[in-house]
Amino acid sequence: MEWQSTYSVGIEEIDNQHRELLGHFSTIGEAMVSKKSWSDVHFEIVKLKEFAHFHFRFEDALMSLYGCPQRERHNEIHVQFLREIESYERSSLRRQNDKEVMQLFTDWLVKHIQGDDRVYAHRIISGAKVVLTL
Ligand SMILES: [Fe+2]
Ligand SMILES: [Fe+2]
Repeated sequence: MEWQSTYSVGIEEIDNQHRELLGHFSTIGEAMVSKKSWSDVHFEIVKLKEFAHFHFRFEDALMSLYGCPQRERHNEIHVQFLREIESYERSSLRRQNDKEVMQLFTDWLVKHIQGDDRVYAHRIISGAKVVLTL
């Protein structure tokens, strides 16, 4: 899945992270098609999971910093998605790699970027004040 300018949420760092996430999906898909060993595919899924964790924590920190009201719900959506990646990771240990699931993940991510992520990003780029105090 190629990055497209319509995926931009208007915050460069977040766009870069989304680009990297999509890159992980492509790498996994390519590893499956090129019939790499199951362990190569598995390791790529682990890398995706770790990066998704990092990205979701990063977004949570931003939403917390700017007091985004949808933070809790947004995090629940992230947790649900991480569970699905973890279940996919377990299947890959059983050598069950389903390429269609990767497509579903990719579709989910694009929808999430253009929906929920755009909501918090819009709040930030339209001048929300930092609310987090030490
Ligand atoms: Fe995101
Ligand atoms: Fe998100």
